Amino acid sequence: MHIHSMMEFKAAIFTSAVMAILLCTSPAAFAQKHKSPPAPAAVTLPPSPAPAPAPHHVDLADLLSVAGPFHTFLDYLEKTDVLKTFQNQANNTKEGITVFVPKDSAFASLRKTTFANLTSDQLKSLVLYHALPKYYSLAEFNKLSTLNPVATFAGGEYTLNLTDDMGTVHVRSMWSNPKISSSVYSTRPVAVYEVDRVLLPMQIFKSDPPLAPAPAPAPDAKPSDAATSPLPAKSSSAKAKADKKSSSSSSRVGVGIASYLVLAAASAGLLLLW
Ligand SMILES: *[C@@H]1O[C@H](CO)[C@@H](O)[C@H](O)[C@H]1NC(C)=O
Ligand SMILES: *[C@@H]1O[C@H](CO)[C@@H](O)[C@H](O)[C@H]1NC(C)=O
Ligand SMILES: *[C@@H]1O[C@H](CO)[C@@H](O)[C@H](O)[C@H]1NC(C)=O
Repeated sequence: MHIHSMMEFKAAIFTSAVMAILLCTSPAAFAQKHKSPPAPAAVTLPPSPAPAPAPHHVDLADLLSVAGPFHTFLDYLEKTDVLKTFQNQANNTKEGITVFVPKDSAFASLRKTTFANLTSDQLKSLVLYHALPKYYSLAEFNKLSTLNPVATFAGGEYTLNLTDDMGTVHVRSMWSNPKISSSVYSTRPVAVYEVDRVLLPMQIFKSDPPLAPAPAPAPDAKPSDAATSPLPAKSSSAKAKADKKSSSSSSRVGVGIASYLVLAAASAGLLLLW
């Protein structure tokens, strides 16, 4: 019965093969055999990118009251009613707006009386001078620097010169040349950049407004620097002092474009959470 048992054997193999195929192709059986089948879609698909943030309303007053501190500038924006002008530009134009916002410490470094004698029109122009009637990302300042002098919201002769020195953007007015020390917010059509000095146009200040008395000389300030400074005598010591200050803080705030982008992304992220 050798042949018969061979045929039985073959039949048994055939049956188990069919059973195996049925088991494998039946989803229920498959699921039973493999308690947690890996979902092929999850394995092969890359993580889906976060959806692009929908354009949303940016409230400048809210933004400035939580960042900075920018309380002094925000006070001037409100007092002069320029806040409405800027907010309207942010709300209702395609061009958008770029605002350079000095930190409270930038105002503190000027004498308290610096703005005391300004007429209300001059004060308004001074605040308007801190914005461009168009949105610029930090990357665009490189291009912008070929267009100097750049018109500001104050109009007419109230212009700024922008320079991009290896990713450090400077905003030059007659009596100050602050650098952009961080990006507070930058999503078309609204850009808000922190600057470390107040912008001081010559149309308002005929001469260099005095700095507040320095609280204490910086440890690395050498008096001989001022004496040998090639700057014109008129304000060389004030300028030397200012330069000292900026050089001692430059390592802290001297950030490149890459960091700006990270900051911008981070602040955009924060705003989304907000
Ligand atoms: C800007 O838009 C917001 C939200 O729509 C609105 O509450 C605010 O009054 C607007 N401001 C200006 C100056 O257009
Ligand atoms: C403001 O004007 C008055 C009168 O013209 C003058 O005496 C004073 O020195 C001025 N103050 C400043 C800070 O310029
Ligand atoms: C800006 O640059 C122009 C031309 O390069 C120059 O004439 C002007 O004085 C500069 N303005 C400031 C505020 O530095």
